[in-house]
Amino acid sequence: MITKSIQENQLVLDRTEPFSQGNHVWLQKLDIAKIAQKYSTPLYITNQTRLLENFRKFANLLDGENNVYLPVKTSPCLATYKVLAEQGCGADCASLREVQLAHLAGIPTARLSYYSPAPDLDLAVSLLQGGGSVIIDSASKLAALEEIIGQTPFSGKLFLRVNSPLYNSYLSKADYQKHTSHGALTSQFGFPSEEVISLLSSTKLPFSGLHSHVGTQMDNVEIFQESLDALHELCEVIHAITDHKIDVLNLGGGLGIAACKEDSFPSIAELSNALKPKFKSEFTYKMEPGNALFGNATALLTKVITRKSTRGKGWAIVDVGSNQLMKVTLAGFSQEVLLADGTSLPREGADSIAGPLCFAGDVILPETNLTGVEEGDLLLLPNVGAYCRAISNRFNGQAEPGTLMVEEDREIGLVYTSEDSHWEPVIQSYRPQRLNATDEPLEMLSEQQVDKLRSFYLHKQCADDTYSFHDFTKVSSEGYEMTVKVDSPVSFISAPLVTRIISDATVAAVVDSLGHDEKEMSVWGSRFNVSLNSILRSNRPHLLRIYLTPRLNLPQSKKREFIAYWQFGEGDSHGNILVVV
Ligand SMILES: Cc1ncc(COP(=O)(O)O)c(C=O)c1O
Repeated sequence: MITKSIQENQLVLDRTEPFSQGNHVWLQKLDIAKIAQKYSTPLYITNQTRLLENFRKFANLLDGENNVYLPVKTSPCLATYKVLAEQGCGADCASLREVQLAHLAGIPTARLSYYSPAPDLDLAVSLLQGGGSVIIDSASKLAALEEIIGQTPFSGKLFLRVNSPLYNSYLSKADYQKHTSHGALTSQFGFPSEEVISLLSSTKLPFSGLHSHVGTQMDNVEIFQESLDALHELCEVIHAITDHKIDVLNLGGGLGIAACKEDSFPSIAELSNALKPKFKSEFTYKMEPGNALFGNATALLTKVITRKSTRGKGWAIVDVGSNQLMKVTLAGFSQEVLLADGTSLPREGADSIAGPLCFAGDVILPETNLTGVEEGDLLLLPNVGAYCRAISNRFNGQAEPGTLMVEEDREIGLVYTSEDSHWEPVIQSYRPQRLNATDEPLEMLSEQQVDKLRSFYLHKQCADDTYSFHDFTKVSSEGYEMTVKVDSPVSFISAPLVTRIISDATVAAVVDSLGHDEKEMSVWGSRFNVSLNSILRSNRPHLLRIYLTPRLNLPQSKKREFIAYWQFGEGDSHGNILVVV
């Protein structure tokens, strides 16, 4: 659990005037003006206490933390995964990258479940051999897996994702359901339940689990009960007719959350009351809640940039839109918008709130009344913890917002910095070609000319740079802190010197973390991110912190990979190194 503040003396939770409404209790404590001033907008704000409350309710429903699998797809933020990983949760992953993110958060392979409708079978085999779970839902991929894995034993568990003929999936109808009815009769997900016996009878691979995911934003508990009944019935037949011994039932995710006051969704407690009496002692039950785990633990802070009126229709243009809220603007999920005093903006009226993007559909609240709303006003969008950042994009050059983590009564700190546009893929992935070179060189510079142009420091003086580590301390299982003393002929610590210092400190941390007293193996830094956002003065001591991630397991690779995050002082100069051992 994150308990230590990254930067001390933060007072964003000392709001004095209460919200005018009783809902969104945790948001009432936020001093959003101070937060906006300190961190700028747009900004996600995640409440760790609320996240843990949701988690514990699911852990209670499933009789154990290990039975709650966070869907990595729902809310990509390593700090939040880590909070849950420390509680013992598992993770539902859909790709190698999601597996790596789960590993980075400290979730071991044995607590991973891999499902993709287009699976990477090498990854599946590697996870099965590492003790993880793999969910299969097509006959062709089962046959291919059987061929690859052959007689090789594995300690993981194989699941079959079942599509049972369920009816009455949603009580109320909404547009977005065409995107979220995963369990529909003819959906691309799952294996038809009526064909399961013939499939399981024909495979040599041992299945020990069944999986079902009825859909997303489900508004009733009956659908989960029906799904559970269907799995129980199927198990009876499987056990009677085949040699497979099913002892784990994964009920997927699907419990919806209210996006606005008008919505009505069952609570986690109601789901628990509906399911627990049906649980049987011979099974372990698992779930992968996305919306219900993450959704209401995060809000998005935004600012009105422009107020205008087009032929009588009032508009407020805010600084975030479809780049983060695609599910609202394009998929038709509703979104509540709160004013700074907690009043919920009406969902009727001639005015609208739009995002900053150059397309007409970038509308967050299509009908409202904006009387009194002015440029510069701050607005809060609650319940955005699921599938917002996850499906974000950089349309119109919009950078990803950061995430501020808070607890019930205090600020923890920024756990996700807002995206630095220098690191965006379009810049990172560019491979410069000699696009502008002419056939004939324009000019050849003599060595003497070049000598006059070069940096004297870089090619000569920097040889005199020296640095030393003091009080090199292991502060946690993954963290090291030290004081670095630097002597340099110039008054600042140059980029190459920073690279030497952080590389050397990382090597020492990695070697120590692997339990060695001496550096007797090669440690290779294969990728470097170095952000020097303020001048680091030389000839004075600096605090350097290094955090090592758990080992990254790559399928088919015996190499060990770590990511070493580093920061000088309070973090203005920071970055990370991909380390291969
Ligand atoms: C297999 C699987 N499990 C879990 C989830 C999480 O669902 P939800 O966010 O509705 O709880 C999803 C979402 O699509 C899913 O596809």
